[in-house]
Amino acid sequence: MTNITDLPRVKDFSRVVFFTGAGMSAASGVPTYRGAGGIWKEYDYTRYACQRAFDRDPEGVWEFHNYRRGLVAACDPNEGHARIARAEEVMGDQVTVVTQNIDGLHQLAGSARIHELHGSLWRVRCDTCEETVTRRDSPLTELRCEGCGGWWRPDIVWFGDQLKGDVVAAALAALEGCDLLIAIGTSAVVYPAAEMPLRAKRAGATLVEINPEPTQLTPVYDHSVRATAIEALSVMCEGL
Ligand code: APR
Repeated sequence: MTNITDLPRVKDFSRVVFFTGAGMSAASGVPTYRGAGGIWKEYDYTRYACQRAFDRDPEGVWEFHNYRRGLVAACDPNEGHARIARAEEVMGDQVTVVTQNIDGLHQLAGSARIHELHGSLWRVRCDTCEETVTRRDSPLTELRCEGCGGWWRPDIVWFGDQLKGDVVAAALAALEGCDLLIAIGTSAVVYPAAEMPLRAKRAGATLVEINPEPTQLTPVYDHSVRATAIEALSVMCEGL
C-alpha cells in the first residue's frame, strides 16, 4: 500500500485515464451500490434494474428510476470531479474519463472526454424503436416515446444487458493507450468493467487504486491508497 504523499502526479504523465465508480460520487451524496448504505442493500435489482423486470412492470421500474433521478438531481459534483475536470482543462486530450457511473456528475463538473460504460440516468431509449434522447425532467412523467408510442426505458446498462460496442471500443482504446490509469471508488466486482484496468496494465501503464477499502484487484495495482477520491486526487492532481 502506498502513502498518499508518495502517489504519482498526473502532470508527470502524457495519457491519463480516470476510471471511476460509485465511490467517486459518494462525497456528492449519491449512494454507492454496495457497502454501508448501498442501493442494492435496499432495493432488489432483479425487481428494478433488469430488462425482465421492465417487461413485467415498467411503471414499477420507472418509480425506482424516478426516485434515483430525484436523488441525483439534488447532488452536485464534488472536489474530486472538479480536479478531474481541471486535469482535462489543462492537459486536453491527454486526459480521458471512463466511468461506470450514470449520474452525469463528471459532465456537470466540466469533463467532456467521457465514456459512460453503463449509460446515463439522464438518457432514455425507446424499448420499441430504440430512439434515444436526453431527458433531464425529474421525475420523468412522459414515459412513452413520442415517435412510436413505445415505452421509454432508462438508457442504462442493466444486469444482463450487453454494454454498447462503440462505448467499449472507445474505452478500451483509451485504456490500452494510457500511461497512467487511476481507478477511483470502484469495488471491482461487476464485469466486464472490473477487468478493464488489467488492459492498461498489460499495455504498460502505471496503475493507481483509490479506495478506502481494498478490492479483489488491489494486488494488481502499482499503488493502492486507503483514501477517499477527494483526498487522493488533491495530491495526484497537484500543480494542475
Ligand atoms: N472515495 C473513494 N472510494 C469510495 C468512497 C470515497 N469517498 N466511498 C466509498 N468508496 C468505495 C467503496 O469502498 C467501494 O469499493 O467505492 C466503491 C463503490 O463500490 P460499488 O458501490 O460496488 O460501486 P461500483 O464499483 O461503481 O459498482 C459497479 O455495479 O451495480 C452495478 O452498474 C452498477 O456501475 C455499477 C457497478
